[in-house]
Amino acid sequence: MSQVRNVKGTRDLLPEESVLWSAVEACAREIFGRYGFGEIRTPILEDTALFVRGVGESSDIVGKEMYTFDDRKGRSLTLRPESTASVARAYIQHRLQERANPVKLFYIGPQFRYERPQRGRYRQFQQIGAEVLGDAGPASDAELLIMLLRFLRQLEFDSLVVRLNTVGDAESRQRFSAALRSYLEPMRDQLGEDSQRRLETNPLRILDTKNPQERELLVDAPKLADSLSDECRAHFDALLALLDRFDVPYQIDQSLVRGLDYYTRTVFEIASADLGAQDAILGGGRYDRLVSDLGGPSVPGIGFAIGQDRLIDIVPETFRARHRLPSPVVVVPVGLDDGASVALEIAEELRSRGVPTSAELSGRAMGAALRQANKLDARGVVLVGEDELAAGTLTFKDFSTGEQATVERSALIADLAGSASRDPDDD
Ligand code: HAM
Repeated sequence: MSQVRNVKGTRDLLPEESVLWSAVEACAREIFGRYGFGEIRTPILEDTALFVRGVGESSDIVGKEMYTFDDRKGRSLTLRPESTASVARAYIQHRLQERANPVKLFYIGPQFRYERPQRGRYRQFQQIGAEVLGDAGPASDAELLIMLLRFLRQLEFDSLVVRLNTVGDAESRQRFSAALRSYLEPMRDQLGEDSQRRLETNPLRILDTKNPQERELLVDAPKLADSLSDECRAHFDALLALLDRFDVPYQIDQSLVRGLDYYTRTVFEIASADLGAQDAILGGGRYDRLVSDLGGPSVPGIGFAIGQDRLIDIVPETFRARHRLPSPVVVVPVGLDDGASVALEIAEELRSRGVPTSAELSGRAMGAALRQANKLDARGVVLVGEDELAAGTLTFKDFSTGEQATVERSALIADLAGSASRDPDDD
């Protein structure tokens, strides 16, 4: 019979990976919480119109990457390709503007995009994101980036640099799009198919082309910086001054425009050469019109989303090493009639003392039980036979030293509990 496999572009995370994922999520919760962010969980399914209006028709996401289908009543639904539009929708729907301002929300959850799968690019992937709604000033941009860097340093990354740009407001962008269009129009036939299309829909996106021939054409193109309004320039300059003051490492990259249509002013990404072709670990920016474009009040916003799959791929070894599955103690009964129940009783006592413990309950012989313990990467085995029961002792075989000793039961349990609760960093 043919085997059913996971859907292309999706992944199973097995326990040894899941511990690392959970550790990264716990770290995000803790740090974001310290900055006053509360968690929001929005549905994975949304009305398709939300993304068409929010993310924008000229984006690749809406153009070709959404998982969209009609439900049984013919309503068009979409598996969310990103969460900023959903957060904006929830903000409007729950009138969050009436709460203390700005509203700071974070989320951790799966997103879906129909892209060609490769390393670092999946059809179901996970984002850790944060959004600040209700403050238009550059200090909000700076605080968000400072928080992001604190989070990444907590994961022990030390050499990541923020790529930063400003795409201006709608008016600056319109001016620039017109200038870029008239510059590129005479060379239209030297542009690839995508860029020719973007020349109509969103010329700005041509700036982030990877095609060397197109990059060459862009060298003398008008610069977005020259089309910025005074307010947009002042916002960007104020942000840079704050980033300098708080030692946030950044690099200005004038070709950074981001692929979603809602951005205004500040945009940023962090990439890592260790990731290969899909090198962006995270992206974000300001979106001062999104909430009003979705029918809400005129409320500015800024946020980011980290691609957790990519982040985990390159998380430093030092962090990884501290977040492995715990090595259990395995309790093995030896030659007892009621071995399973004795093993279970000892295991329960160890577990109540905080010791990760596994019990041999299936009556395997000692050799087989020891092989299982090895596969579990156990710290050691507690052996209990007739002699131990009679004397109130236990025998412990320590896998790290290879030594075996028979000691008083309560002393061994206290000893194992003591070493289990010690922070490995203290060693
Ligand atoms: P984005 O740049 O589309 O922005 O995605 C953010 C991050 O999600 C990327 O940098 C990448 O790490 C990860 N990512 C995207 N697509 C995939 C994929 N197919 N496989 C694996 N990882 C992927 C947004 O989604 C915006 N909502 C960010 C934002 C929040 N802007 C303002 N607030």
